[in-house]
Amino acid sequence: MTLAYPITSNAAQPPRLSPGYRSTLKRSPQKPLIIMRHTLSELTGPVYGHETVRENDHDLTIQAEGEPLGERIIVHGHVLDEEGRGVPNTLVEIWQANASGRYQHRADQHDAAIDPNFRGEGRVYTDDEGWYRFTSIKPGAYPWRNHDNAWRPNHIHFSFFGSGFAARLITQMYFPGDPLLELDPIFLSIPDAAARNRLVCALDMMVTEPEWALGYRWDVVLRGREATPMEA
Ligand SMILES: [Fe+2]
Repeated sequence: MTLAYPITSNAAQPPRLSPGYRSTLKRSPQKPLIIMRHTLSELTGPVYGHETVRENDHDLTIQAEGEPLGERIIVHGHVLDEEGRGVPNTLVEIWQANASGRYQHRADQHDAAIDPNFRGEGRVYTDDEGWYRFTSIKPGAYPWRNHDNAWRPNHIHFSFFGSGFAARLITQMYFPGDPLLELDPIFLSIPDAAARNRLVCALDMMVTEPEWALGYRWDVVLRGREATPMEA
């Protein structure tokens, strides 16, 4: 059994070479791509099992002894296929900076505080209807050295693992009203404005909890004409 997935779902996906986003100069392919047909090993190879998702992995605010600093948020949404059907059993993983804009990672040398109570990683499976939900802290903006005085908008990195090892999609979710969006070469590398705005979540008062946390909704379409832009 072999199956060829389409290389691109639609024209809205960012080009591999986007000169404003400097690291694409080095990592974008110089030669035409070779299409690899997926064989049984990619389609049925090992994927994360349910046992790798622990009980508190969906709540990034309770993974340490104390409470993390920052603005508590709830992020939820619907993972959909091209027909608008919810996709159950998708492993949704997130990673993000803390409220000060710092990742708890050796490679992050930004001069901002590390929060010992915030690791910045979460994972959850979509439910039977394709819904996911995380509790977290709103990530801060942080500088990067792409160009002079470059700052990333507030964002959360998302990964979606489907039913096979090769079925992984990665993208970033942004927050509404962020003035850094219009200056961000990564966000702007998606040529179509409507497509890039699909990466911006919406304030959702239906899940906002009084006296507790603001709620945001971000739906994701895995493929098709309305596909959420993903990283190559
Ligand atoms: Fe980031």
